[in-house]
Amino acid sequence: MNAINDNSSDRVSDQVSASAVVPQDAGPLALYEARVAEGLLRPDPDQERVARRLDRLWTELKTYRPPVVVPEPVRKKSFLASVVNRLPAMLHREEEMAPPPRGVYIVGRVGRGKTMLMDLFFSCAPLAKKQRIHFLSFMQEVHQRLRQLKLENPGMSDPIPPLAKTIAADATLLCFDEFQINDIADAMILGRLFQALFRERVIIVATSNTVPGDLFQNRPGADAFKPFIAIIHSNLDTETLDSETDYRRGREQDDTTWVVPADETARHRLDKVVMRYGEGHKPQEVTLEFSGRTLPVDHAQGPVARFDFTSLCSRPLGPGDFLAVAKRFPVVVIDDIPALGPDDANVARRFITLIDALYDNGNLLFVSADATPDQLFPAGEGADAFARTASRLVEMSSESWLARAHAPGGCLSRP
Ligand SMILES: Nc1ncnc2c1ncn2[C@@H]1O[C@H](COP(=O)(O)OP(=O)(O)O)[C@@H](O)[C@H]1O
Ligand SMILES: [Mg+2]
Repeated sequence: MNAINDNSSDRVSDQVSASAVVPQDAGPLALYEARVAEGLLRPDPDQERVARRLDRLWTELKTYRPPVVVPEPVRKKSFLASVVNRLPAMLHREEEMAPPPRGVYIVGRVGRGKTMLMDLFFSCAPLAKKQRIHFLSFMQEVHQRLRQLKLENPGMSDPIPPLAKTIAADATLLCFDEFQINDIADAMILGRLFQALFRERVIIVATSNTVPGDLFQNRPGADAFKPFIAIIHSNLDTETLDSETDYRRGREQDDTTWVVPADETARHRLDKVVMRYGEGHKPQEVTLEFSGRTLPVDHAQGPVARFDFTSLCSRPLGPGDFLAVAKRFPVVVIDDIPALGPDDANVARRFITLIDALYDNGNLLFVSADATPDQLFPAGEGADAFARTASRLVEMSSESWLARAHAPGGCLSRP
């Protein structure tokens, strides 16, 4: 899955390279301690404990020799191909191999440093083939690749095992940020896909806001998902990271990104934002095309897209649509976000997905709303999950977020 590029790991490698005193082959604990010593991070015993667990995995990976995975040549099944395919299994009979190191599932509330620690670990993980992926992007890619496999091989009964082989051939270590399961189609695919990945001896590290046992629970189809939870438990250790401090809070706020209330004054302020970032371009209608779908954008102006909240979140749009918007428009402006109540759970869920896509891509977001992020969806199904979104929105309003978007490599400077 080389197509997935997660810019946040670039951010960390920048930070890591700032630690000039650390030896080249330092592990995650040494990197963490160096950053604390340099004053880049505040000391935090809970983070240190998780860094130690990741350090153990780092040590185990130094001597880990994963089997060579040969992607299945699905189109032509010659005798030779089938022998070549079975070779790794023939050479390393499963029962003769030592069990692979256990992965780590880091769970806790927002802003505790889960992603920061996973990225430190990823930056120094001693494996040639490794990938760090936001889970939302990973699932997008999985759906796309499954569609493609079926299209290219009409007779194929089950595309999941060949997909798992391709993924394993590209990466022995998969790091998932924001592991979450939101819909039944993903839930059904994931159980079998992960089982196949573990069979290929892939190591998984993940961050999440939800303990494995609570993933996809209290939803229709939850029982069918239980075996997947068991698979996670038997391959990954859960490490809780839940210190007192939410490190996302308390940053300097730029009050122009989230304007309350959504009145005429707010509209004028957003007009100015659109003018500033869309300078030199005329407003026009654009149609985005992706994965065989189209999405009309009524107001596009250079790098800016402007939407009414209802046109984005009251229609049945999903992660694919939001990712397409995020990728195409570095600056997203949304007018008139209403305060959401218990009857708006679906709208709130879409908004969460939208913000995940924008956050992960490092987009700039300017909105007018009738409530602050913390007050936007205080009660209703999914209000707990919304706390993470509120925290992200706070971070996306910070000056450092704006600075990062403008910096080289930030969303405004990408081609
Ligand atoms: N010990 C720390 N000292 C200072 N800043 C921290 C510390 N831990 C994390 N941060 C910063 O706080 C922000 C939130 O951390 P992050 O890893 O994104 O949290 P999470 O993934 O748990 O929501 C990041 O910008 C991160 O660099
Ligand atoms: Mg995170």
